[in-house]
Amino acid sequence: MFKKERRVVVVKKRCSPVNELVNIIMPKLKFKASVTEMKVMYRSPWGQLRQKLLREQLSELHRQRFRNRRGLRLLDIGPGLGQYSSLLLRRGWQATLLDPSEEMLAACLATLRGISNKHYELLHDDARLLRQLAPATYDLVMAHVLIEYLDEPMELLKDIKDRLKKKGLLSLVYNQTSAAALFRIIRGKPQQAEAILKDGRITNGKMGPCRTFSRKDINEMLDKQGYTILEEKGLRVYCDYLPNRLKMAPDSFRKLLRLERRASIKGELLPLARMIHVVARKS
Ligand SMILES: C[S@@+](CC[C@H](N)C(=O)[O-])C[C@H]1O[C@@H](n2cnc3c(N)ncnc32)[C@H](O)[C@@H]1O
Repeated sequence: MFKKERRVVVVKKRCSPVNELVNIIMPKLKFKASVTEMKVMYRSPWGQLRQKLLREQLSELHRQRFRNRRGLRLLDIGPGLGQYSSLLLRRGWQATLLDPSEEMLAACLATLRGISNKHYELLHDDARLLRQLAPATYDLVMAHVLIEYLDEPMELLKDIKDRLKKKGLLSLVYNQTSAAALFRIIRGKPQQAEAILKDGRITNGKMGPCRTFSRKDINEMLDKQGYTILEEKGLRVYCDYLPNRLKMAPDSFRKLLRLERRASIKGELLPLARMIHVVARKS
């Protein structure tokens, strides 16, 4: 159904008892959520806030950094349901969506309904395929909540940089360690918070074992790979710390969105943001 070019074949090794024990204590990073689980998350007030704010930030990027130009090239790695690619495709971009999950690609196809398939391609593979894509090709690469599931984050940033055109932009969204810990403290789980603060890992993540990052680590990695950071914005600065009855109240979404919009651009509140959206230029 999807282009399966140069697919990397992974030969599964038999697991030794020692490896099995290591996997129980320290499960391998892996995204495990289904399309249904992603849709449920995006229907929640916190999912809708993330989507609305990020869509607004991407629209602004298109307007201000790309001057509303048409025909620009986007690569979306780990597109999930495809709604962020859809936004730019509907503003005249050409897009490549790359995901190892056939189910996610099928969901992307549904999201992109109504857009001519002359304007996009779906690649069924994981982020390692990047190395086989043409260098210096894309104006913008999106990697939103992907780096959390990868063993080699530095390699991802390098491979993305090689695929970007000169002065091309990276749009990276990642979960912050400090905020993931604070979220658990507020919910009365200080031991879980401590465990996360140790190495950033979340072993019992709803969407699979993953890791979180500090701003310092991400910004240092970007710097080492030769990116210049242009913007850092917070996604969900207040929402996750509020009691559910407040988040779910019928009239609270609009109020919360207004608050979150203002908070997203306040540097002093960034450490509270559950996720950071960083835009960086290939320098
Ligand atoms: C948490 S979801 C994020 C989806 C979307 N970017 C968003 O922000 O809603 C992670 C996505 O990355 C994909 N993914 C997981 N491991 C990957 C890998 N190694 N290479 C590329 N994509 C991967 C998953 O299938 C899923 O679509």
